[in-house]
Amino acid sequence: MTTSFVDYLRARLPLVEAALERAAARPLTDDARAASDLDRYLYDPIARFTASGGKRVRPVLALLGAEAVGGRAEDALSCAVAVELFQSAALVHDDIADEGELRRGEPCLHRTIGTGLAINAGDLALTQVVEALLADDALDDGRRLRAIGEVIRMERHTLEGQALDLGWVRDARWDLTPDDYLYMVTSKTAWYSAAVPLRVGALVGGGTEEAASGLEEVGLAAGVAFQLQDDLLNLVGDAEAQGKDLRSDVTEGKRTLAVVWALAHLGEADRAELVGLLGSRTTDAAELARAVELIERGGGIERCRQLAAERARQARGGARELARDGQITVEAGELLASMADFFVERAG
Ligand code: IPE
Ligand code: MN
Ligand code: MN
Repeated sequence: MTTSFVDYLRARLPLVEAALERAAARPLTDDARAASDLDRYLYDPIARFTASGGKRVRPVLALLGAEAVGGRAEDALSCAVAVELFQSAALVHDDIADEGELRRGEPCLHRTIGTGLAINAGDLALTQVVEALLADDALDDGRRLRAIGEVIRMERHTLEGQALDLGWVRDARWDLTPDDYLYMVTSKTAWYSAAVPLRVGALVGGGTEEAASGLEEVGLAAGVAFQLQDDLLNLVGDAEAQGKDLRSDVTEGKRTLAVVWALAHLGEADRAELVGLLGSRTTDAAELARAVELIERGGGIERCRQLAAERARQARGGARELARDGQITVEAGELLASMADFFVERAG
């Protein structure tokens, strides 16, 4: 077994892609005319969106959770599908909330099919999350119910994080601390991107509660590192590699750690200028660059890098400790350590 997370991702990708294709929803009617409209307005757009997903990190982590405790990757396939369909719903809705332009290198779904239909298509994906688990006959009822509960809890964390992220901007809140930011991104990203996929995978793979909790901890630390890297890439990364708009976090006035940190460390005039830029919804390249310059001057970029590295280190240490304690396999410990590195080294 490989210990490179990128290789593991590549090796498990076909399993995930095939399961996602099988999970695609179809019209409830046999009437050809209605079905063709429904395909056009609902089923095709969301199926295409899900099919356009990139690395499939989240679903693959569900498989890894199962394998880490000695289960089979197949045990966690419905969990993997559930997590990826939640990702589809969350991103479609997030792009509406954030007024996004680009996603996965293409115009956002609400820009191609309209906001109303995009909300509806995202809602469909959300219903498929639980359906995917309900339809998994290979899981006994106990595990199936457990998995549904875990995934619903995961969804709630994300909704909390999204509420804080959006609410702070709506209310022009600048009274935020690094801890506020960390709670927000743990909620918004870490639970659904790593902690619950690993946890639920371990549970359906026959792991103990202790192993599942240990994996959850690793996932939380790695998930925060992942979001910090996302924030960095948005400010100083390569737009093409990400398939998203560069510096949109400045346009959206996002309270990222880099911003919160810089505001606390800049002088009065610089601080006022940065607050002005963040509240202006600017898309002007020179103004966006100026905002990044101020964030950098306030030490925000540096602090973001440090913290991402620190969380990645924490995740690596946690993973190896779980392996040493015999909670997970040695291979899984190394794969998770490699995952933590990958999260902070990726360009997109
Ligand atoms: C993405 O959040 C959606 C969820 C976390 C559910 P962001 O708004 O922070 O990320 P991007 O930049 O649009 O991908
Ligand atoms: Mn958002
Ligand atoms: Mn967004």
